[in-house]
Amino acid sequence: MENPSPLCECSCEGRKKMLPECPAGAGGLPPPQMKLSSIDTLQNLTGRNISDYLVKTYAQIIGKSLKNKIWVNEFRYGGFSLGARSSQILPPSDEIDDAISQLRSRFTLEKGAAADRFLGSLSNFIQGLDTKDNVKIWFNNKGWHSIGAFLNVMNNGVLRANLPAGQDPSKFGITAFNHPLNLTKEQLSQVALMTTSVDVLVSICVIFAMSFVPASFVVFLIQERVNKAKHMQFISGVQPLLYWLANFVWDMCNYIVPATLVIIIFVCFQQEAYVSSTNLPVLALLLLLYGYGPITPLMYPASFFFKIPSTAYVVLTSVNILIGINGSVSTFVLELFGSNEIGGVNDILKNVFLIFPHFCLGRGLIDMVKNQAMADALERFGENRFRSPLAWDMVGKNLFAMAIEGVVFFLITVLIQYRFFIKASPLSTKLKPIGEEDEDVARERQRILGGGGHTDILELKQLTKVYKRKQKPAVDRLCVGIPPGECFGLLGVNGAGKTSTFKMLTGDTVVTSGEAYLAGKSVLKEIDEVHQNMGYCPQFDAHNDLLTGREHLEFYAILRGVPEKEVCEVAEWGIRKLGLVKYVDKAAGSYSGGNMRKLSTAMALIGCPPVVFLDEPTTGMDPKARRALWNCILSIIKEGRSVVLTSHSMEECEALCTRMAIMVNGRFRCLGSVQHLKNRFGDGYTIILRVAGLDPDLGPVMRFIEAELPGSTLKEKHRNMLQYQLPSSLTSLARIFNILAKNKQWLHIEDYSVSQTTLDQVFVNFAKDQSDEDHSKDISLNRKEAVVDVSQLDSFLQDNKAKETFV
Ligand SMILES: Nc1ncnc2c1ncn2[C@@H]1O[C@H](COP(=O)(O)OP(=O)(O)OP(=O)(O)O)[C@@H](O)[C@H]1O
Ligand SMILES: [Mg+2]
Repeated sequence: MENPSPLCECSCEGRKKMLPECPAGAGGLPPPQMKLSSIDTLQNLTGRNISDYLVKTYAQIIGKSLKNKIWVNEFRYGGFSLGARSSQILPPSDEIDDAISQLRSRFTLEKGAAADRFLGSLSNFIQGLDTKDNVKIWFNNKGWHSIGAFLNVMNNGVLRANLPAGQDPSKFGITAFNHPLNLTKEQLSQVALMTTSVDVLVSICVIFAMSFVPASFVVFLIQERVNKAKHMQFISGVQPLLYWLANFVWDMCNYIVPATLVIIIFVCFQQEAYVSSTNLPVLALLLLLYGYGPITPLMYPASFFFKIPSTAYVVLTSVNILIGINGSVSTFVLELFGSNEIGGVNDILKNVFLIFPHFCLGRGLIDMVKNQAMADALERFGENRFRSPLAWDMVGKNLFAMAIEGVVFFLITVLIQYRFFIKASPLSTKLKPIGEEDEDVARERQRILGGGGHTDILELKQLTKVYKRKQKPAVDRLCVGIPPGECFGLLGVNGAGKTSTFKMLTGDTVVTSGEAYLAGKSVLKEIDEVHQNMGYCPQFDAHNDLLTGREHLEFYAILRGVPEKEVCEVAEWGIRKLGLVKYVDKAAGSYSGGNMRKLSTAMALIGCPPVVFLDEPTTGMDPKARRALWNCILSIIKEGRSVVLTSHSMEECEALCTRMAIMVNGRFRCLGSVQHLKNRFGDGYTIILRVAGLDPDLGPVMRFIEAELPGSTLKEKHRNMLQYQLPSSLTSLARIFNILAKNKQWLHIEDYSVSQTTLDQVFVNFAKDQSDEDHSKDISLNRKEAVVDVSQLDSFLQDNKAKETFV
């Protein structure tokens, strides 16, 4: 070997080092050593510079101490040097004598006094330091007993070496007793507690990690609630209790994966406090019950109070971390540093915090660490103080609390789902008296109130909905009965209350007052039976983005109770009927708007329910798909089942509805068959004129119509098209045709049509009356601009400046 003891880098000028940096091998080859009967190790450092050896090998000792968790100073307590000369060069003896006599002359010392005797022997003592015949004792001043112990060993050595010949050295000796002021058990526990900080830190990390896991389960729940997929499942026959149980079982299966990983990590790092044979089962139990605890109790009910999944995730994670870490650490710190008075408060806090499963887990882990640390500390004194971690005042009460919380909060979740706490709030404002009504609507109301609706499959009796913090009712005392085999059209402007009516009928929102019966079952009291008899296509698609169209239909077919063998067939029927064949095996999240509507409608039709509610099913559908759906609805009606349909397409209502109602401000303004409504409200003619030319001047035509057909009103004006409304009493159909046919040429009229007033016109007439508390102002402004003048819009777009502003 080139250099068995390479030099260490120590502090030098301009470069300060607290500890020298020693290369491998510094301090030389390991000295010969032997184990003593007292299990100490004795090293032979003969021929070495001891101070140098101690310094250079210090770094190795630190490394060892970190591994074994034995304090650095517990390694080397002391040693002896025999016959080693002092490295200091002592002054010659005459100089020492001279210095002593000078001291004597300066202080007049009494003969025989202590100082006189000291000075007398000082010269010999200093000379003695230089003798080769000496022993030197090294001791580590961090070991309280080391001076006494090592001095005693040397004294014994000296004694035994100087025994008269023939004496047995083993019979002579000096015994040194060490009586440290022992710590009381409490003090020792306190010290042991303080040394557990690293393990406590580990438990904090576990709480931190475990705060994210339960919060992540809420994301899907909120999504499913907000997009109404959950409601759709309930309508299809899922019991709320079953829904939550299934969620719980699935979440627990998922939770077990991270929990197992935590345990594996603990096992890998061999943390005695967590993985000793008695502690490991308790750790597993704590983690398992924590999953059973917070997933159900805190996270499930919390899912009802959020609308945005990401917000819920962040908020719940923060709350979990806050409660878990703050609760357990604050009680631990109070325990460490708190006085007796605080101890009482701390005990109360520890019991109160047990209502939080996060605290139960965190505190349980800390208690396990504490128990192990105390047991280790007392084991040195031969006492076995290890307590079973399952004991009540250890982790037992935490486990018990979590088990109870799981049940209690699961029940709360189910009760919230069953709207146990939600009572329909009594009407905050008195509804205005119904007043004068259209005769058809009034007749229907009387029929229903008189009990004439019993034979109807769907009966709405004074059904009312007033949303919270709203004065005006969204649905105002609706009365209607729909017999089997009818397609009832519910028309109305945006915000008229159509969807709110559907929501009440499907049990999505609470009915404020009134009652509704579907197939004789009350919507208020027997919602489960009502669900069995209805199919619902909500206005906004309630899909699970990850399931394919086919999976959706199969899933809902199963929920509807279709026999297992026929599930695939039924799904296939829905797919073909709505023209979804091309997309059926793609995830619903990737569907276009129209395809989503098709899927929603197919879901509503599955299971052949006697009543189908379709809320704007054809919005966004292409004309071909729309016609396919119309055929489908017509076949449903033929089967004797009923359909309640909302739509903004008059064409659709004309094609499908046997009866329809126009809804304004939550009330029916008219009710009856399409022709009946046209006859009653659409009296008159609609004239549509198209003028030839690219950008024709419509002035002459307008002036002509005004002159020849007085009483006509211009309803719409587009680039080359004019639409007039004319009351039938003012003229005859023959006269209109006559005038137009004669003057067609010189007015450059390309084509014209005269028809009975369309349903659109009837609708627009009623729509004017729709008002909203918040938007009534806008509506009154818009009403003034009843005629749409597209030419103005064109000139606006042709103006370059305006174009820029428009863009
Ligand atoms: N959850 C709610 N909270 C408060 N008000 C609501 C709520 N849902 C609907 N409304 C209000 O109730 C009224 C009726 O709304 P609804 O959704 O039933 O109208 P709609 O006839 O379905 O309209 P659209 O044709 O646009 O679908 C509107 O004024 C609306 O603002
Ligand atoms: Mg709606």
